[in-house]
Amino acid sequence: MTAPLLSIRNLHLQMSSFDGRAHVLNGINLTVNRGEIWGLVGESGCGKSLTGLSVSRLQPAPPARYTAGEILLEGQDLLKLSPAQMQRLRGKRIGMIFQDPTTNLNPAFRIGEQLVDVALAAAEHDPGVIDCPPGSGRRARRRAARRLAGEMLARVGIPDALARLDNYPHQFSGGMRQRVLIAMALIGRPDLLIADEPTTALDVSVQAQILELIKNSVNDFDMGVVLITHNLGVVAQTCSHVAVMYAGNIVENGPVAAVIGNPVHPYTIALMSAIPTRETKRGTLRGLAGSVPNLITPPPGCRFAPRCKFALPACTAAMPASLPVGDNHAAACIRVAEMEALVRD
Ligand SMILES: Nc1ncnc2c1ncn2[C@@H]1O[C@H](COP(=O)(O)OP(=O)(O)OP(=O)(O)O)[C@@H](O)[C@H]1O
Ligand SMILES: [Mg+2]
Repeated sequence: MTAPLLSIRNLHLQMSSFDGRAHVLNGINLTVNRGEIWGLVGESGCGKSLTGLSVSRLQPAPPARYTAGEILLEGQDLLKLSPAQMQRLRGKRIGMIFQDPTTNLNPAFRIGEQLVDVALAAAEHDPGVIDCPPGSGRRARRRAARRLAGEMLARVGIPDALARLDNYPHQFSGGMRQRVLIAMALIGRPDLLIADEPTTALDVSVQAQILELIKNSVNDFDMGVVLITHNLGVVAQTCSHVAVMYAGNIVENGPVAAVIGNPVHPYTIALMSAIPTRETKRGTLRGLAGSVPNLITPPPGCRFAPRCKFALPACTAAMPASLPVGDNHAAACIRVAEMEALVRD
């Protein structure tokens, strides 16, 4: 049996800050295979971005400290790689689109140059990325990389792509810049794409196009995707699987149809019922009652217990294990077996 594309096992991450040490990832387990698009959802501050940043190892340590667990990319533990080894995987094996706008395009360089640089860097480790005979000189390689950059830009739906390579980022609209970032993440033909809120800032029609593009790329490049989003509508539309995060834990995970069609963790149920109706903004989460706990002094046992209307004294005694509730569907709640009846009453 071949190893899964990505397997995060029991990952614990602490972040130190001025206020103290926060236990922000509290034993994450997540397996992503090629062809799967995993939605990672949950309220603000639940640890979605830090999960993505952990896989790309872009979270500086300190303040990050991994206290337990593994992040296996086809069996290789990324936490054991040196920064130089990790650098070689980024762009080539792991493509990333970030939530943080400061990591966006460099305003001082033409779009084409930025794409060519990424393609050439990826080609150093996998010459097949650019279509160029072995032993070609620098100029031939640049020409091939530029050709590829034009193709990628066209593929992400930029009209007149070749001419547009000579534009600077400010000459592109926000939606077009986001497409460029996706082209940049895909140009090295990654095995795994981590996309952190890639469409949040975009209008609905552009958002739909970009999600479609990500879906098509999964087929074209046979990759796996982790798509971080607040939006359960996006998950339903785009993802094959979903993992629901709460305060540093994955509380429920499984195929989208199972988790969204039949949520069993009280947090997922609350999230689903917080989806606004037609009168309010569509698809985004309205606040649940209460807030994500302080992770420097998290509540004992189940971290959702203080907000959970079904909580029992036992819930605060120990962290609930993740229990199977269906085919590849699991939830970390000691009351999953009774949940259907509890919700009905
Ligand atoms: N550099 C940092 N130093 C200290 N704590 C941090 C740091 N980055 C994030 N955290 C904390 O880790 C927790 C998880 O943050 P993360 O950014 O992963 O949340 P998120 O789920 O992506 O939220 P959002 O939906 O707002 O993007 C938060 O409580 C946050 O305050
Ligand atoms: Mg985030």
